[in-house]
Amino acid sequence: MRRGELEHGPRSEPHPHGVETAATPDSLSLSITVEADIMAACREARLLAERAGLDRTATYHVATAVAELATNLVRHAGGGRLSLRRLLTPPGVELIAEDRGPGITDLRLALSDGYSSAGSLGCGLPGVRRLMDTFSIRSAPGEGTRIEATKWIRP
Ligand SMILES: Nc1ncnc2c1ncn2[C@@H]1O[C@H](COP(=O)(O)OP(=O)(O)OP(=O)(O)O)[C@@H](O)[C@H]1O
Ligand SMILES: [Mg+2]
Repeated sequence: MRRGELEHGPRSEPHPHGVETAATPDSLSLSITVEADIMAACREARLLAERAGLDRTATYHVATAVAELATNLVRHAGGGRLSLRRLLTPPGVELIAEDRGPGITDLRLALSDGYSSAGSLGCGLPGVRRLMDTFSIRSAPGEGTRIEATKWIRP
């Protein structure tokens, strides 16, 4: 798959990057390898969250979480895949960031505020955990990392 290309769910037609179609895809999967992919992922996440019915604040939270996880894919994992899916019962949005990078040895440390192996702020993962309603992370050194998070629509 080309960099930045979208894989939509079964209900939609494939379309060139960034072009809206009449169909409303309720899932997508993005290959994330370079900085430009982060912006694209952020934008697609915002659109999907809006379509799914999240309010402005929740949409912003999802887009921010996507920006952080996509940045980590580029910066720490040498690239990976970011998938978003609309959930119906209960309604919400699920996001999954997956890579086959070096993995994380100490998850507790990686999830603590202020820890960064890259001289950065170290608030990405703990921030995502706070912004989303559910958060789970699986990682094995040498095998990669998988993060799943969901945001529910509040009635
Ligand atoms: N996908 C990943 N693969 C391997 N290591 C990761 C991955 N995501 C995060 N990490 C590790 O977890 C640490 C914490 O991640 P976090 O996003 O909180 O901070 P950061 O990316 O270093 O800084 P910031 O996000 O604040 O700019 C990273 O420094 C890195 O060591
Ligand atoms: Mg980060």
